[in-house]
Parts: sequence; structure tokens; C-alpha cells
Amino acid sequence: MRTTLLAALLIIPGLFVAGVLHADSVDKAALKAEAIGIVKQFGGTLKPQLKTALKEGGPAHAISVCSTTAPEIAKSLSQSTGWSVKRVSLKARNTETAMPDAWEKSVLAKFDERQAGGESAQKMAYAEVVDGQFRFMKAQGVEEVCLKCHAEKIAPETEKALQEHYADDNARGYTLGQIRGAFSLSKQL
Ligand code: HEC
Repeated sequence: MRTTLLAALLIIPGLFVAGVLHADSVDKAALKAEAIGIVKQFGGTLKPQLKTALKEGGPAHAISVCSTTAPEIAKSLSQSTGWSVKRVSLKARNTETAMPDAWEKSVLAKFDERQAGGESAQKMAYAEVVDGQFRFMKAQGVEEVCLKCHAEKIAPETEKALQEHYADDNARGYTLGQIRGAFSLSKQL
């Protein structure tokens, strides 16, 4: 009787701990891989459309394309994957969709610190389980092409197109390599 009780006392918590550790490591890696796949789909759909629009009609035309395409892609990916999918920034252009919550703000601030410390945005990402949600953010760095619409100095017609679509645009003044914002994904566990 005593040994059975002792065995139970040792084995049951042991199984519990093993189960938790196991679920933790396996699920996190799989969820992260899933999130990275969705980010690639987002970028892989948006970027070619942006480039085509720029080629066809310059930045002003690309802005009107981007203003409908980007939110559409985010919405359709959210519907097809079951994840919440968006882009956020500390200096949002689309102030309806891109305002970060407290957790996103702190991650974006850490991305800025990491970038200032010399890390490239290329592979910069962060994942964490917060309040029963798996949350993942992937930084978006400023490349040459981004400057046409996110630098301090831009063409007058680009300026005009931005004012038409985004009355309270904050997404200006960026230089090469800085963190423009991030893809932010979350999934209820
Ligand atoms: C043709 C102009 C143009 C170019 C070039 C451009 N963007 Fe943007 N960007 C926009 C517009 C317009 C929005 C708002 C889209 C929306 O309403 O969702 C935006 C929004 C964003 C957002 C979402 C957060 C926010 O502030 O609304 C990120 C992140 C972003 N851009 C990053 C980039 C990066 C990185 C590049 C270069 C690879 C880039 N952009 C190039 C016009 C541009």
C-alpha cells in the first residue's frame, strides 16, 4: 500500500511535467513554422503586386493599389488560416489596421533596439505564448524600394496620393535598414 502510494506520488507529477514539457516544445516549433509560412505567403503576395504597380504607374498609383490590396491579403489569410494576421508599426500609416497593442509595442521597441545594436531585420522575429495565445512577430526592414513611400523626402505626387488615402500617416522619415514595422500573427491555443 505504502509503495503504491509512493509510486503514485512520484509517477503522476512526473507524467504531468513530461506532458507539459513535451507539448510546450513540440507545439511551439510547429506553430512558429506555421506562422513563418503565413508571413511568407503575405509578403510573397504583396511584394510582387507592389513592384508591378510601381512599374506600371509609379508610387502614386502603387499607393492606391496597396491601400486596398494589403488589407485584403491580411483579411483573406486570417480567414483561410484561422490565425489573426496583420501588420503593425510604431509609426502606423493605416491607423485603422496597424496600431500595435501593448505586447506588439514592446516587441517592436525591442526590434528597434536589436536593429540599433547591429542585427539585420532579415531574420528578426519573436514568439511567445501570451494569455493562452501563441503570438509571433516578424520584423520588416526598410529596403531601397520602400524609401519611395516611407522616406522623409518623397516625390510631390507620392506625397499627394498619401494625403488622399491616409490623412494621419505617421510612416515617414525612415532610412535604409530601419524597422518599418512587423507582421503580427496570433492563434488561440
Ligand atoms: C508605393 C508606396 C509604398 C512602398 C514603395 C512601400 N510601402 Fe509600405 N505602405 C504603403 C501604404 C499605402 C501602406 C498602407 C497599407 C494599408 O492601408 O494597409 C503601407 C503600409 C506598410 C506597413 C504596414 C503598417 C502601416 O504603417 O500601415 C508596413 C509594415 C510597410 N508598409 C512596410 C513597407 C516595406 C518594408 C516596404 C519596402 C519593401 C514598403 N512598405 C514599401 C506604401 C508603400
